[in-house]
Amino acid sequence: MRFSTPLRYPGGKGRLARYVSDLIEINNLTGGGYAEPFCGGAGIALSLLIAEKVSDIYLNDIDRSVYAFWYAVVEHNEELCRRIRETPVTLETWHAQKSVQKDKATADLLDLAFSTFFLNRTNRSGILNAGVIGGQDQTGKWKIGARYDKKALIERIDLIRFYAKNIHVSNDDVGMFIGSRLPEISPKCLVYFDPPYFRKADRLYTNHFSSNDHAQLAGIIQDSVTQPWIVSYDNTPEIAELYNGRRQEAFPLSYSASAYSIGSELMIFKDGIDLPPTIYATRSMVV
Ligand SMILES: C[S@@+](CC[C@H](N)C(=O)[O-])C[C@H]1O[C@@H](n2cnc3c(N)ncnc32)[C@H](O)[C@@H]1O
Repeated sequence: MRFSTPLRYPGGKGRLARYVSDLIEINNLTGGGYAEPFCGGAGIALSLLIAEKVSDIYLNDIDRSVYAFWYAVVEHNEELCRRIRETPVTLETWHAQKSVQKDKATADLLDLAFSTFFLNRTNRSGILNAGVIGGQDQTGKWKIGARYDKKALIERIDLIRFYAKNIHVSNDDVGMFIGSRLPEISPKCLVYFDPPYFRKADRLYTNHFSSNDHAQLAGIIQDSVTQPWIVSYDNTPEIAELYNGRRQEAFPLSYSASAYSIGSELMIFKDGIDLPPTIYATRSMVV
């Protein structure tokens, strides 16, 4: 089984799908739920659902653009695919979609979903605020459509349609998600927190965290999440300290977002979880 999320995501964790699948197996969580309070591209969640390793996935993101995309995939799948099929991939469309993001707080969710998808696939590194691939004059080596294989992308979105009733999408701040949504979800559910990085996150995401936010989050997760949970971060002493006393494992996950990459990541585990022998990142998901 191999599934790729339709969204490109800087720092996307899709390559940990196999590892997380094994973690679920070892902890007798197969057939249960899987929640990502910071879902972004949701690569792991979708791989697990489509491989039928878990029965339901809970995708939450505070970014209304990201939320709109997942909402439309679940609630308006055919219409979203139609727009992708029929909209030409041109600079004119790019400018029109850019202007939708300017009013993202009030934009119609389906319009916002299409705009998010279009810009994610035509901007450098998939970053919504970045420039278009190939530049405004389209003289770069790669052109606007380099990452926009319509047929393949529509196939990915269309496949998710069959699982729509098992995908639960929300647009909460993580604190609200932990306080109000997680208590309603079965105890047989792995919760994977992948917050914005401690360092340099402001370059990658629209919503970044202050040190205080990281500290608060560490407190809430450790004090109040009753389901089994894991957290991943960039490997920094500050984060290791915030989760002092929990089991922690450093691992490599290379990726590139423009000109830099972050080498070492840190995974932190709730007490009592059984762990696979090491953390592995693979290109494909084999369950
Ligand atoms: C590191 S990315 C997640 C990447 C994701 N795990 C993947 O594999 O694609 C962090 C995400 O958290 C979201 N986010 C930032 N602050 C948040 C908050 N307070 N509550 C919920 N989501 C938040 C961002 O919009 C971003 O999509």
